[in-house]
Amino acid sequence: MIEIVRAGAERIEDLEPLWAALNEHHAAIAPEFEEIGPVRSREDSWRVRRAIYEDHFGHDQHAFVLIAEDDGTPVAYALVVTRAGEEAWTSGERIGVLETLSVLPSHRGQGLGTRLVETVFGQLRAAGITEFEVETLIANEGSRRFYERFGLRPFTTSYLGRIPEAR
Ligand SMILES: CC(C)(COP(=O)(O)OP(=O)(O)OC[C@H]1O[C@@H](n2cnc3c(N)ncnc32)[C@H](O)[C@@H]1OP(=O)(O)O)[C@@H](O)C(=O)NCCC(=O)NCCS
Repeated sequence: MIEIVRAGAERIEDLEPLWAALNEHHAAIAPEFEEIGPVRSREDSWRVRRAIYEDHFGHDQHAFVLIAEDDGTPVAYALVVTRAGEEAWTSGERIGVLETLSVLPSHRGQGLGTRLVETVFGQLRAAGITEFEVETLIANEGSRRFYERFGLRPFTTSYLGRIPEAR
């Protein structure tokens, strides 16, 4: 049976295999970013990501992670932080940001991602937060379809590349 539990920084280490699965997916779908540098090793990618999570949990009192456990084994997670409200439009004071959503390949396509996002919405509502944001790689067509099903729409476009040589 799959159970969703809410946790904080104390569970960060348990997320490593789930992060590795997402990182592998990113490397597979966006090979053009090898221009920036080769894909990081599993260990190195986790070192960078873990530091980001520690920073969030150290500074954001609203940060939380939902871990889906299949008979006690973590198989998916949604890590949520918040950011200041939108200055151009009258949003709430804080906006919920889905920093990471990862479902292990063995558990994809079975409604678990949907269940996690719906649980995230419930937790944010309970905290009085009314807006939600998530970034996804343009190349991640599956996840774009997934998020658009919740009524979310693309917002900003970010560009990433090497700084050109000095002229
Ligand atoms: C995207 C993801 C979180 C969705 O979770 P899920 O449990 O597989 O999704 P659900 O079963 O609730 O919903 C299925 C829908 O998710 C989307 N989806 C995206 N990637 C998918 C995948 N690899 N397998 C199945 N569905 C996927 C599709 O829109 C699918 O609907 P469709 O079958 O009509 O195309 C999960 O598939 C995943 O971890 N993928 C790889 C990592 C990733 O892309 N994470 C999001 C980064 S922002």
